[in-house]
Amino acid sequence: MTTTSASPTWSAFDPFAPEQRADPYPALAALRDEAPCTHLDRYGVWLVSRYDDVAAVLKDWETFSSAQGAGLEPVATPEEGGVILSTDPPEHTRVRRAVARDFTPKAIGQLEPRVRELVGRALDVALAEGEIDWVGHVAQPVPTTVMAELMGYPDRHRDEYCRWASTIFDSMGCPAGGESSVLGEAIGGLFGLVGQIAADGEYVTGGWADRIVGAGERGELAQGEVVSLLGGILVAAMDTTVNMLGNLLHALATHPEQWRRLRERPDLAPGAVEESLRFESPVQPGFFRVTTTETTVAGVALPPGARVMVAFGSANRDPRQFPDPDRFLIDRTPNEHLAFGRGVHFCLGAPVARMIGRVVLEELVSSVAEIHPAGVARRKDNRMLRGFEHLPVALTPS
Ligand code: HEM
Repeated sequence: MTTTSASPTWSAFDPFAPEQRADPYPALAALRDEAPCTHLDRYGVWLVSRYDDVAAVLKDWETFSSAQGAGLEPVATPEEGGVILSTDPPEHTRVRRAVARDFTPKAIGQLEPRVRELVGRALDVALAEGEIDWVGHVAQPVPTTVMAELMGYPDRHRDEYCRWASTIFDSMGCPAGGESSVLGEAIGGLFGLVGQIAADGEYVTGGWADRIVGAGERGELAQGEVVSLLGGILVAAMDTTVNMLGNLLHALATHPEQWRRLRERPDLAPGAVEESLRFESPVQPGFFRVTTTETTVAGVALPPGARVMVAFGSANRDPRQFPDPDRFLIDRTPNEHLAFGRGVHFCLGAPVARMIGRVVLEELVSSVAEIHPAGVARRKDNRMLRGFEHLPVALTPS
């Protein structure tokens, strides 16, 4: 049966409310059962919560366009929303091709020894101290250093990149008019800085920034697209990966039997990374698309121009796809989660994030016997990302 409106019970639901973000899963489970495609009156958008529907929307870019950006509010230009994220084919194909050729398995393999060195060093310090804040010691410095080096940017701005990237993500869940000065400062700060680095030629030859600037010089990318990519990749890469590492350690610290299993079977490290991405997806509640034509989702008729949220975190807890979805099981197979999206916009940096997660686990397994929570963990206050601001843990050497 096709309906034109969603359950009135759910139309007042607010996925961005602090109390909802504190524990998102019970309400999302009820939503999947009762109103899998529901209109959220306060935002004027539709929320799609079941796995099959989220996957179908993500795959159908012709009906569900990214051209107005991936956030709650439409962007004025693709550059403003991050030029890869905010375009549809064929523009998207051209822009993505200009950067994707550098994300090769070989390039990522070459990065691995450096990641291992950074993780090893961070863990040495952590083990010497015994109790640490995992975010401040490992989850934040490792990926932010790696990403700055990968781009070929000066390392001294590392913390600014991450802070601004986090604010820009948060603004993607912010209604029009809210906190625009904070966002303006973050966008101005980040894009101003990367633009200045490019203008001064302060990036390393052979890094991604150099290649993106080169694609601009060859006429494959317009100047606005170059700056949008230089900043946009940093935004996409930084806090997402930081949160993945926080969520991963929290899951292991609170599921000691899974940590023991990983110690017995270190070959399960890649699976543990995937399971953590499913269990606590870093991008939550989800990104947006806009319908280009009349269509139907979960039996609900949507008009053209409807703004639709694809709820990655909800899809990844859908029992229709994942048996026992609320259990964290590092050997879960299959595990076709949607934490990196699906379809033409599938995360370009997924292999990098996966490699960082795997190396962190391999190094942990080789040097750490036990992981325990060591105080009150504090979640990050971010409307589009799920992770930790502060995660105190005790690590015992093996
Ligand atoms: C665990 C870490 C990460 C998560 C959870 C994540 C998540 C995502 C998701 C859900 C999308 C799809 C967006 C959409 O469908 O609208 C995406 C796209 C993207 N991600 Fe990631 N990401 C992560 C790490 C990274 C890293 C490390 C990089 C870069 C090195 C990166 C670069 C990108 C780019 C450029 C896109 C846009 C791709 C396109 O639109 O074609 N991401 N990411």
